[in-house]
Amino acid sequence: MQLLRLFRTTTFRLALIYLLLFLAAVLPLLGFIYWSSLMLLERQTDETLASEVAGLEELYRTSQLAGLIEAVTTRANRADGGLYLLARPDGTPLAGNLKRWPGPRDEPQGRISFDYRPKDGGEIRPARGEYFLLTGGVWLLVGQDVSQLRRIEGLILQALGVALAATLCLGIVGGIVTSRRMIQRLEAINHTTRDIMAGDLGRRVALKGSGDELDQLAENLNAMLDQIERLMVAMKEVSANIAHDLRTPLNRLRSRIEVALISLDEGGESASVLERTLEETDQILTTFNALLSIARLEAGTVASRRETLSLAETAAAVVELYEPLAEERDVRLVCEVSGPGHMTGDKDLLSQAIANLLDNAIKFSPQGGTVRVSVAPSREPQTVEIGVSDDGPGIPEADRDRVRGRFVRLEASRNQPGSGLGLSLVAAVAQIHEGRFVLEAAHRTQPPGLLARLVFPSLP
Ligand SMILES: Nc1ncnc2c1ncn2[C@@H]1O[C@H](COP(=O)(O)OP(=O)(O)O)[C@@H](O)[C@H]1O
Ligand SMILES: [Mg+2]
Repeated sequence: MQLLRLFRTTTFRLALIYLLLFLAAVLPLLGFIYWSSLMLLERQTDETLASEVAGLEELYRTSQLAGLIEAVTTRANRADGGLYLLARPDGTPLAGNLKRWPGPRDEPQGRISFDYRPKDGGEIRPARGEYFLLTGGVWLLVGQDVSQLRRIEGLILQALGVALAATLCLGIVGGIVTSRRMIQRLEAINHTTRDIMAGDLGRRVALKGSGDELDQLAENLNAMLDQIERLMVAMKEVSANIAHDLRTPLNRLRSRIEVALISLDEGGESASVLERTLEETDQILTTFNALLSIARLEAGTVASRRETLSLAETAAAVVELYEPLAEERDVRLVCEVSGPGHMTGDKDLLSQAIANLLDNAIKFSPQGGTVRVSVAPSREPQTVEIGVSDDGPGIPEADRDRVRGRFVRLEASRNQPGSGLGLSLVAAVAQIHEGRFVLEAAHRTQPPGLLARLVFPSLP
């Protein structure tokens, strides 16, 4: 699998192309070396033969057949690999160390390659020779044993084969090594970008320091991320600033409305208008306060009071607060607790988070539905978990990340009251408690409902 991915990388393909080009250059070169060394060896044999033949011819001219027979006999007895045969016109030997004429002799002069068996026995060996028809119908053959030559040929071929195999291996291994390093670095970049997309915007791609293309890519990515982070921070600051700056005038507005209400008769037209205005002002103030809380939590500027608390007790208190609302909506509220669930945290913030989850669960439950709050040790070791589930429509998987964002409200819940800040606050509270906030389907059946889980590090 890993190897398959390697083959698909651009680097590996490049390495392969280089290898092929390299082979295209090296193969003819190796071929040329082979061919020219063979030529050299053969020429040496041929030259030895030629000089030998010239000598014997000369001898024949000066001292006739008898002299030649004597010379051939002495030379044939020298064990230097020289092969000689002097034969009558019908091929029967006159002198020499070959038992019979080894091949055809159609021309008066020619070259032949032949195999022979040495006089002292042993294996059949390869040889090459030249033959002549001398005046008087006598044939002379002078040859050379070429088994040594063939062996050297074999050795050269072997060496070239080894060189070729080594080249191939080097090319392939080099290709794999370079592309694997490339993959590793790209994988590191991918890893970081995945982390960033998962919400850890502070992460940056590590540089290798070589200043190569990948480093440049990483640098550009990092610069881009810096820019994005600055923009995000600026955006959050703007919304927090607006909330902050408008809170004071809004509070003044609110007290004026209250003052005006006192002077009016209860139940009158103007009074009811003012009362509704007061309600909406309260709504806006709640939204602004939530926005500010989230901003402070995310910025880490809020001084959260850390105390040892029981998550079960905290949850029970919030559930009690929401019982009237549940009753009013005809929703059954069940609290299941196994163990106290000790942890350290800010009780007010945790209560607020649980309240937001309960508020949603009751809000989105159908009439006669059940909202279940459970506190139990989590599946993961040393953690405690609170889950709030309902029988409502749930949140489609694709939207589960999105709804944690500020002001995000799904289309399906437009007709319900709310500001879209509830889950953002839950996420922020989970974050400062080093906890996890998970949304999933509560049931396998339809409607799936929603199970919101908060997982915190627990105390023993
Ligand atoms: N229990 C739930 N069931 C179905 N949808 C939910 C549930 N809780 C939250 N949502 C969806 O997530 C959105 C954001 O929730 P929240 O941040 O609490 O904002 P609000 O409750 O003010 O609308 C809601 O508008 C709704 O679309
Ligand atoms: Mg809500």
